[in-house]
Amino acid sequence: MSVLDRMSALLPDTAGVSENGHLTLGGCDVVQLAAEFGTPLYVFDEATLRQTCAEYRRAFSQSYGDVIVIYAAKAFINRALAMIIKEEGLGLDVVSGGELSIARSVDFPVEKVYFHGNNKLREEIELAISCRVGRIVVDNLYELPLVNEVAKEAGIIQDILIRLNPGIDAHTHRHVATGVIDSKFGLPIALGQAEEAVVKAMSSSNLRLIGLHVHLGSLIFAAEPYQEAIRIVFQFAAEMREGHGLDFREFSPGGGFAIQYTRDAPAQGVAYYAGAIAEAVQSSSKELGMQLPRLVVEPGRAIVGRSGVAVYRAGATKDIPGVRRYVSVDGGMADNIRPALYGSSYEALVANKVTEDEVEQVSIAGKFCESGDILVKDVEVPRVVPGDTVVIPVAGAYCLSLASNYNASLKPAIALVKEGKARLIRRRESYDDLMRCDLV
Ligand SMILES: Cc1ncc(COP(=O)(O)O)c(C=O)c1O
Repeated sequence: MSVLDRMSALLPDTAGVSENGHLTLGGCDVVQLAAEFGTPLYVFDEATLRQTCAEYRRAFSQSYGDVIVIYAAKAFINRALAMIIKEEGLGLDVVSGGELSIARSVDFPVEKVYFHGNNKLREEIELAISCRVGRIVVDNLYELPLVNEVAKEAGIIQDILIRLNPGIDAHTHRHVATGVIDSKFGLPIALGQAEEAVVKAMSSSNLRLIGLHVHLGSLIFAAEPYQEAIRIVFQFAAEMREGHGLDFREFSPGGGFAIQYTRDAPAQGVAYYAGAIAEAVQSSSKELGMQLPRLVVEPGRAIVGRSGVAVYRAGATKDIPGVRRYVSVDGGMADNIRPALYGSSYEALVANKVTEDEVEQVSIAGKFCESGDILVKDVEVPRVVPGDTVVIPVAGAYCLSLASNYNASLKPAIALVKEGKARLIRRRESYDDLMRCDLV
């Protein structure tokens, strides 16, 4: 079995091998891309990205019907990516004035923009309302009157959803679990704050409460937590309808759909989540005698994760006999902090050695001044020598969006590949960029 066969679930759809035994993506030789654009380099495969957007739309509309898929921009956004998301007909979940500004810069249809966040700033709310975002997802009781006040000043009736905290553990890393009661996100149903928010929203002059939202966390492998959350939210919605006349027209189960990062941790496809969510919404609605609400799903990681790979150049190696061999690359925790932050696991391959069968176990280290800067622990790759092109698959989500300038490093360039052509969608930062905001 070739490396590519072993890694096929992790690589973009267009992955192949060139005549000289190099990894290709979107018809482009990855070794050549590294030479042309430098490393670290992030490469996104346009075909995989568009195909994944289309699959999400298709699967949810086939299972449910009235649905909007909105891409959670926090997974990664830049102008070219926002353009593709727009062209594929998805909406957008934004959490800051910055993400909203990127969306606006490509004329993203604002009515399909949902504005989230547990501490939206007044300026951000003003921006969102003045550019007429489709929904503001109200997260807490502090924000509710603030959104109403800003909407009133602008002379606008703003559509809102209320983000509930259902008190559910989705069995994911504690840093990405948001549905548990001890979370900074959402209004707890169990403590009565959710009901208070519904009542206040319904009596606010410039808010129109059209639905409810939950988001349980990220990298959720099983459908059961979604189904449990749906039962809880729909029960709450029925009580709010009886008690306060809530018109429950829209429901979002959030995002969080897991993807596969390593060969030993497969994830379900979109059809699994779409089927389970649709079934739970339909049965709860029926049981409680409610109209089916419009469904809003918010995948982030699942849309961009597998479309992107990180490409590094190997440098120093260090052998510790009987312990391990370290291969250091020219990036690390500044462009991908996930292993250090969450203990995330990845695979790796060597783009100029994809046809080599003989492998050895190494750990891939970053270049940053932290012992924890290890990108991949104990991975089997052909013998790596300085100058080799090391690729980490499934690097499209939460790498670049969490990237920093740690050690005054330069954020990487990003190339988009398609049908044998590559174009930069973000240039590498320069030392001048690093100092652009400094004043002396
Ligand atoms: C409200 C909300 N929706 C959607 C997402 C996207 O999650 P994921 O990228 O795991 O799909 C997040 C991620 O934090 C979120 O907070």
